[in-house]
Amino acid sequence: MITGIYHNAMNVLDMEKSLRFYVDGVGMKFSHEIKKEDGSPWIVYLSIGNAESLELFYGGVKDHETPYSEEQIGYHHWCITCTDLAKLHERVLKTDTLNPKDEGKQPSMLKNGGKNFWIHDPDGNALEIVQPKPVEEYAGRDELLGIGHWALAVQDIPKAVYFYTTKLGFRWERTLNKDGEPWIDYLIVREEPRQTIELFHNASKSTPNEWNSAGSPHVCFSCDNVQAMVELLRERGVPIYIEPKIGADGKGQAWIRDPEGHRIELMTA
Ligand SMILES: [Fe+2]
Ligand SMILES: [Fe+2]
Repeated sequence: MITGIYHNAMNVLDMEKSLRFYVDGVGMKFSHEIKKEDGSPWIVYLSIGNAESLELFYGGVKDHETPYSEEQIGYHHWCITCTDLAKLHERVLKTDTLNPKDEGKQPSMLKNGGKNFWIHDPDGNALEIVQPKPVEEYAGRDELLGIGHWALAVQDIPKAVYFYTTKLGFRWERTLNKDGEPWIDYLIVREEPRQTIELFHNASKSTPNEWNSAGSPHVCFSCDNVQAMVELLRERGVPIYIEPKIGADGKGQAWIRDPEGHRIELMTA
């Protein structure tokens, strides 16, 4: 059983700039760093709330012009949740880590009194930040809660929805329309705290998706037992991209790919 979105991963162009944005600005916590066998820098791990995280990989390669768009097949954006978006916004401004393209933007109010805000990291990747409830309900806490959702732009929606629901076990929730046309499908990964996948319709342009292509090379879903999960997926006819192994961080992991080639890591957590 998949139990949640565990981490997102980013290949970055400039680690120092990205760390200033995600740590000093957004407020993620530095956890640890691992090096390659030859001792060269490899991955920096940042904590988001108690359980979820972001992996930043050194050595991202800018092999496509636009970091993301609804036309481009593949990774689109991700979302984290926090208790106080006004304070977070202030911090990003104070630490001068706001991407120039976000200058002057303000968080927008959600119907339930929560807030929503889209900003961009130094490489132009979109980060949506949601304060799920009115600030009063967080009693002055100023912290990150976790990962809210992860989004892809998809060419073949029926195939993607079938894969993420029938193969991975997520629950289809609804289709949001725009101008009367289907725009985004929402799939539930975890009910509480809520985590979803957003699948944008009508992507058509393929872009490089190498292990080191700038942007997000993979997403990681946590599961109770990665070995058992792999056997279940094999029974369901899902090709296993990388068989179960113990990763550099000492945890059990395995890899699959979705119908449009996006890498998915499965990790015992
Ligand atoms: Fe979103
Ligand atoms: Fe990972």
